[in-house]
Amino acid sequence: MTQRLDRLLSLADPVEAMADIGTDHGFVSYAYLKKNLAQYVYAIDISEPSLEKAKKTLWPFTGHYACLLGDGLKPLKKGQVQALVIAGMGGRSIANILDEGEDLAKDVDYLLIQAMQGEEVLLRYLREEGYGLLAEALAFERGKYYRILKITGKNKGEEISLEEPRLLLESGDPLLKDYLHHHLERLEEVKENLQKAKTLSPRSREWLEVTRKENQIRSWLHDYCGENL
Ligand SMILES: C[S@@+](CC[C@H](N)C(=O)[O-])C[C@H]1O[C@@H](n2cnc3c(N)ncnc32)[C@H](O)[C@@H]1O
Repeated sequence: MTQRLDRLLSLADPVEAMADIGTDHGFVSYAYLKKNLAQYVYAIDISEPSLEKAKKTLWPFTGHYACLLGDGLKPLKKGQVQALVIAGMGGRSIANILDEGEDLAKDVDYLLIQAMQGEEVLLRYLREEGYGLLAEALAFERGKYYRILKITGKNKGEEISLEEPRLLLESGDPLLKDYLHHHLERLEEVKENLQKAKTLSPRSREWLEVTRKENQIRSWLHDYCGENL
């Protein structure tokens, strides 16, 4: 189990039945059963070889799982599960899966979502579709930070913000400080590139926007991580 999946599971509440969309090796499904977080899991994947891997992982729990070949939420019926996990895919693919199965996605108690890339596209989609944020966690894997979102489509939780990850800031996440520093370093690189381009003056709109974001992150480091920068 990777740290990314460990952190994802730390946000899981126990349910009767859950579905693990894009199960691949079946590790999320296995952990839900092993930790008694679900009595029954639907391990779903669009790829037959992936589903074969999941079957090999899940066999100790015979009678408590079904491996279903299919696209996104299509193999499921509304009411069949109370939780969905969609992790390890691109943000656009996750948004498409939610869009195509909106009725079911908005009916479950919670969804755990984690994108490997395309985070902004996903956040924008979730915001526009009115999903509410219940909790958030960070993971670090192979040199990259990932945000894990616990959301609901049931008119609960926080409005999803593209600017300020308030629940994450308030979560006391052990990776928060490093994550914010990582963003500061990336903004510094953007500034260096802007300087190299030389066509932009330090007061250009782009420069000012990067400076505004840097100041915002420094204030979060001060307010939530106790740093004086
Ligand atoms: C990189 S793996 C992620 C495995 C696991 N969820 C994790 O987070 O580690 C992505 C899996 O999603 C599956 N997948 C991609 N698009 C899908 C879709 N539309 N419906 C179901 N599974 C899909 C792929 O076949 C692959 O097995």
